Parts: sequence; structure tokens; C-alpha cells
Amino acid sequence: EKSGYKHFMIKEIYEEPEAIESALVGRVTLDGPVLHELKEFDLENVEKIKLVACGTSYHAALVFKYFVEKYANIDIEVDVASEFRYRNIYVDDKTLVVAISQSGETADTLESVRIVKKKGAKVVAISNVVGSTITRESDVTVYMNAGPEIGVAATKTYVNQLVVLYLLGMEILKKKGIWNEDLENDFEFLKRSPNLFRKLLEDFKIDELASYYKNYNHFMYIGRGINHPTALEGALKLKEISYINATAYPAGELKHGPIALLDPKFPVFAIAPQGYLYEKIKSNIEESKARKARIIAITNEGNEDLLKIVDDIIYVPKAPDDMYPLIMSPVIQMFAYLIADMRGYDPDKPRNLAKSVTVE
Ligand code: F6R
Repeated sequence: EKSGYKHFMIKEIYEEPEAIESALVGRVTLDGPVLHELKEFDLENVEKIKLVACGTSYHAALVFKYFVEKYANIDIEVDVASEFRYRNIYVDDKTLVVAISQSGETADTLESVRIVKKKGAKVVAISNVVGSTITRESDVTVYMNAGPEIGVAATKTYVNQLVVLYLLGMEILKKKGIWNEDLENDFEFLKRSPNLFRKLLEDFKIDELASYYKNYNHFMYIGRGINHPTALEGALKLKEISYINATAYPAGELKHGPIALLDPKFPVFAIAPQGYLYEKIKSNIEESKARKARIIAITNEGNEDLLKIVDDIIYVPKAPDDMYPLIMSPVIQMFAYLIADMRGYDPDKPRNLAKSVTVE
């Protein structure tokens, strides 16, 4: 039931605050984050982590990589399942495999799990669907508890994947004896995030922006570091429901080719919070501006620095560096949703796509 909303997609975006709360239930304790599912799981000795997933779930995996490798000398590799399953993946007793699938039925991800299990790897599944195939074939499952998602485009389940992956990262780091003030701040932010999402979803109005940008045929999303996956996810959302040709790059790659595309008809969507690579992305924005591209940037409240350079700006609450992928996700989702709807498409049922990709 759409309970008054025009589409499931928008309803599910507005459900994000409650979805996060459900992901945190029982996992937020006075002693910090705890994933009870993994209590008996040997994480102390993990030296390599391989994450495998498709589509949006793959983007969540990339955020995990940037997050965890910042704090620990763990070798982390992320791959899309359709590649992973055909590679020769080396696993040893210090390797952990994390397979992420909202539906738990994605054929390539399931096959990847089967292959590494045969090689003796331990597999943690992250899924939303209780009793799905991936949960039965993995050693342990961490549920994302987002509730059913009907819209084909992942929204609240992406948010919950991020929440659960942050918790998993924290669990691994804690078990390895790594904990510090930054991680404490991240954890505090996670706890506050349902209310921050509530306020953000109430306050931000981007209809006018969407109505302006809906007329473009191309978009270039750019981001750096932990914000690069947000660029990838923003572009994926836009292309899959609005059929606009959106491409995403780590911003430092622009000058190695893609910048040639930019002109007044090719806007740039820059993921640009004032975090550790801010000056770098800012100079990439300036380079894009020099090509006369129109720039829309998403950044943190209080950043007036960009006002002089960009054409449009969307603010999210200030957050610890690690947490921008989380707090920015409703914005990129809403932007794509509004544009698809304004272009006259049904965002719940994009052409050629299925909610569960059960064939290769
Ligand atoms: C995009 C989207 C897809 C899925 C992908 C993997 O909005 O929903 O890219 O993320 O098909 O699906 P799961 O997570 O069910 O394995």
C-alpha cells in the first residue's frame, strides 16, 4: 500500500528514518556497537576482506572499503559478482568474504558465495529478506531490517546496507582492538541519524532544482574517497529511473579523459562535503567550471565557500567524514525520483529491470 504517496519509491525514501532505527535495534549498547550474530565469529584474525555484490549493493560495499581500511591494515577488495565469480579468488584462513544482497536471490552473488565456500572461506551475508537463499548458504547473516522494499530502485535498503556495513566495520575494528575518537564520533552519528534523516526529509525541497535539471540529457557525477561511491550511486539512480545518461567518476580521473565531455549541456553533480579531500574536489569543480559546465554540488551546512563557484547547492547536516555517504543518500535518491516523475516515467517500474535478478 502506498499510503497516500504517489509511488513506492518516495514512500520508501520517507521510511528511511524508521528503517535505520530497525537496523540499529539491539545493536547499539552502552559498550558501543554490537552485532550479536557475529559474537562467536572469528574476526580478530581477519587480514583480508573480499566483498561481493551487484549494483547498489556494490556501491555500499565500496563505502565499507574506504571506511575500514582507513583504520586498520586490512586488505580489502570489492568486486561486482558477475566478475568475481569468473575470477580465480584466493582465500585463506585469514580471509573473510562479505556478500551483500538485499533480495538474497541475485544469481551472480549467490554463485560467488558457493564458489568461495567451496574454497573454505567464511562468508557473512548481508540481506534484507529473511530466509532468502543467500542467508541459507552463508555462514552467518546480518539482516538489514529495512522492511519490504517494493520500488525496483533500492532506496531505504541502500541506507540500511550502509548502516549495517558501518556496524560490521566497527565490530571488526573493535575485535582487533582498534577504537578511537573518530570511530566514537561515527557511532554517535549513527545513533542520531534517524532524527537527522527525519529533519532532512522534512526540510529539504529540491523540486525546483529537479524541474530545472530534468531537461538535460547527460550528467557527470564526481566524488573522491569515501564520497566516490555516492557519485556512482547517484548516477545509477538517475539513469535507471529517468533514463538520463549519467556517468560517475572519481573526480581525479576527470582530466584523464572524461572532462572532454563537459560543456554547458553536460552538468556536473559534485559530491563535495568539507571532509579530508575537500580541496581536491573543489579544484575538480573549478576545472569543470572552466569548461562552462553547470555545477550542482552537495555539501555540508555552513559551507559558503562553494557558493561562488557552483550554480546550485544542496546542503546536508555536517557529519563526520566517514558518514557523508549515509546522510547524502536520501538527497541523490530524491533528485533521481523527482526527475523521473517529472519526465513522466514511473520510478517504481523502470523499463527492462526486475527487483530480483535471479538469472545470470
Ligand atoms: C538499483 C538496484 C540494483 C540492485 C542489484 C542487486 O537501484 O536496486 O542495482 O542493487 O540488482 O540486488 P540485490 O542487492 O538484491 O542483490
